[in-house]
Amino acid sequence: MMSQASDEAVQPRASERRDFLYYATVSAGAVAIGAAVWPLIDSMNPSADVTASDTVRIDLSGVEPGQRITVKWRGRPVFVWRRSAAAIEAARAVELGALVDPVDTARENPSQSGDRPARDDNRTADAAGEWLVVIGVCTHLGCIPLGQDGAAVGEFGGWFCPCHGSHYDTSGRIRKGPAPRNLDIPPYTLGDDLQLVIGA
Ligand code: FES
Repeated sequence: MMSQASDEAVQPRASERRDFLYYATVSAGAVAIGAAVWPLIDSMNPSADVTASDTVRIDLSGVEPGQRITVKWRGRPVFVWRRSAAAIEAARAVELGALVDPVDTARENPSQSGDRPARDDNRTADAAGEWLVVIGVCTHLGCIPLGQDGAAVGEFGGWFCPCHGSHYDTSGRIRKGPAPRNLDIPPYTLGDDLQLVIGA
């Protein structure tokens, strides 16, 4: 098993829908929401399952290379990106000295037991770096960065936060702008069968 490693939902434009999944997690109180959005999720591939706890399960087997999808978990967007070879190469070519936030702490990356260099291979789900899973909330003041549609990705190919101009690279690391930290990583597991469980 591979394992890693405004809070408002964003409504995708029609042109973005191919690359987006939006659904609510979770908790017994959210059953009605889950039921309401299930037809949308169920009609798309990958499929998703909402459990009775604060976890969400997603089948990523239908995600194409290069595709980004967004999953809602505990009221926040989680960005899942099946990165292209070029995006992986760009992320892994970056020297730690070029990073604003060169150390990922265990709090920022709960899949890690201690502080780790913010190398790309410490931030991805698999050793090859094909899968990146990060919380899509800017670490400055909490806006949702742009880039999930493959446009407006900023100067470093990852995401761009339009609120105050933070640029994240293809590993979700802050490279320019006021954000102090790399995009956080949620607790998750990703199996060889490409079943992603966020919150596990
Ligand atoms: S909230 Fe993202 S740059 Fe300020």
